[in-house]
Amino acid sequence: MEIIWLGHSAFEIISDENLKILIDPFISNNPACPFKVEEIDADIICVTHGHSDHFGDTMEIANRTGAVVIGNHEHSLYLAKQGFETIGMNIGGTIKIHNIKITMVNSNHSSDMDFIEEMGVGGSACGFIIQLESGTKIYHSGDTGVFGDMKDVIRDIYKPQIALIPIGDRYTMGPREASIAAQWLDPDIVIPMHYNTFPVIEQDPEEFADRVESITKKTKVVILEPGQIYKE
Ligand code: NI
Ligand code: MN
Repeated sequence: MEIIWLGHSAFEIISDENLKILIDPFISNNPACPFKVEEIDADIICVTHGHSDHFGDTMEIANRTGAVVIGNHEHSLYLAKQGFETIGMNIGGTIKIHNIKITMVNSNHSSDMDFIEEMGVGGSACGFIIQLESGTKIYHSGDTGVFGDMKDVIRDIYKPQIALIPIGDRYTMGPREASIAAQWLDPDIVIPMHYNTFPVIEQDPEEFADRVESITKKTKVVILEPGQIYKE
């Protein structure tokens, strides 16, 4: 299993059986992404919400690769109307695709598709728990503030071993809130995201790492550079 950070909240997970799962593929307008959108391959694309820094190049990549797009009901309807292969779901549900299980969980954020004319379309923002073939569970929170479900639902029911959470502040949690989120989620590994893409979300990930270290011995913070791979 490999997790490649593409900068911002965009990740590519390569599963144990070599499936490529893209999450929030913000590539072509992402100043932190070291890859060109044409270089990105996918079997499955998961979209957490309708903001352009997450929905990103979903349609371009799905069009070229034939990847199935997994998102909320409203996004799925929007994409299906345009001929994309898509699976719609909603908070609390799990789907199985190949040997991967994907659960949609709450996030505390908005989801309007800010790149289309009709604002108001986009349903609710979400996070995903992706269970790979081996059983490893990766939680991608999407954009979110810290919220109680992180311990009562996400930790207690799903127990993800790896958590990808934002630390950029302003639009999401900052380092302080994210360190509490890490404590509540109680994963083995936490990887910070959604920072240093733009000046307004400039953060020092080491501050986040220090905070996590001071409140929990269990969780290890892995700070990636865009393009860098975490392997297990
Ligand atoms: Ni957002
Ligand atoms: Mn965002």
